[in-house]
Amino acid sequence: MSHSNPLFRRISDLMYQLGPARYYQPAYAQIAQAIGLDDGVFLDVGCGPGWLCVHVGGGKPHVDAIGLDTSEQMVTYARRNKGPRLNVTIRKMDAMDIKFPEGTFDVAAAVQSAHHWEDTTRVLSEVHRVLKPGGRFLIYEAESGRSDVPTGWVERKRGWPPDSVVINGWKRFGMDDAEWAELEVKVRGVGFSNVVRDVHGFYRRMTLTK
Ligand SMILES: C[S@@+](CC[C@H](N)C(=O)[O-])C[C@H]1O[C@@H](n2cnc3c(N)ncnc32)[C@H](O)[C@@H]1O
Repeated sequence: MSHSNPLFRRISDLMYQLGPARYYQPAYAQIAQAIGLDDGVFLDVGCGPGWLCVHVGGGKPHVDAIGLDTSEQMVTYARRNKGPRLNVTIRKMDAMDIKFPEGTFDVAAAVQSAHHWEDTTRVLSEVHRVLKPGGRFLIYEAESGRSDVPTGWVERKRGWPPDSVVINGWKRFGMDDAEWAELEVKVRGVGFSNVVRDVHGFYRRMTLTK
């Protein structure tokens, strides 16, 4: 799903930056910990406000974290959010046409981005191309059927957001069983192996190896 109306897009990007991007901070920290990169090059596909890059690269001088996003507005937010970190770079770029050479990245991740891709197979084959042999790609999407918020994954200020708001976001934008099954066919089709599907916090996760 993607928003072609520019005004709608601007408003939804702003709401994401002010809402989920803030209250998902513990989730980004958990994902960064699972990625566990101390040395190497990381790609965030559809980085939005850039927080995963900040968590992956923050305090890790031997990590280069690169986020790409098609939205000018998200790129602006991400560049602001990364602050002075020199090892975090944000590029305005379409994941269907990644301007990096083959075998650049050790690890790639896409969080809540896959459901937006206009041509999923094209994005998957581009990520496959730019990963090093043996490189990992982690795809995270909220579970649309989930009805509880796991402890330690969402930050609340004075009780906001309540569970209902968080869960409603997953219902609207998460992926269901059929979408995951379709994605699995596509990842295998572009050459990924060791496809592992599990649950991490409130996300469903697919971990792939080149
Ligand atoms: C819901 S946001 C999630 C952002 C971020 N990953 C996070 O978890 O905070 C999805 C992002 O994917 C980006 N996106 C969608 N399709 C894309 C593509 N083909 N190339 C790059 N970015 C894309 C959108 O612009 C949007 O910023």
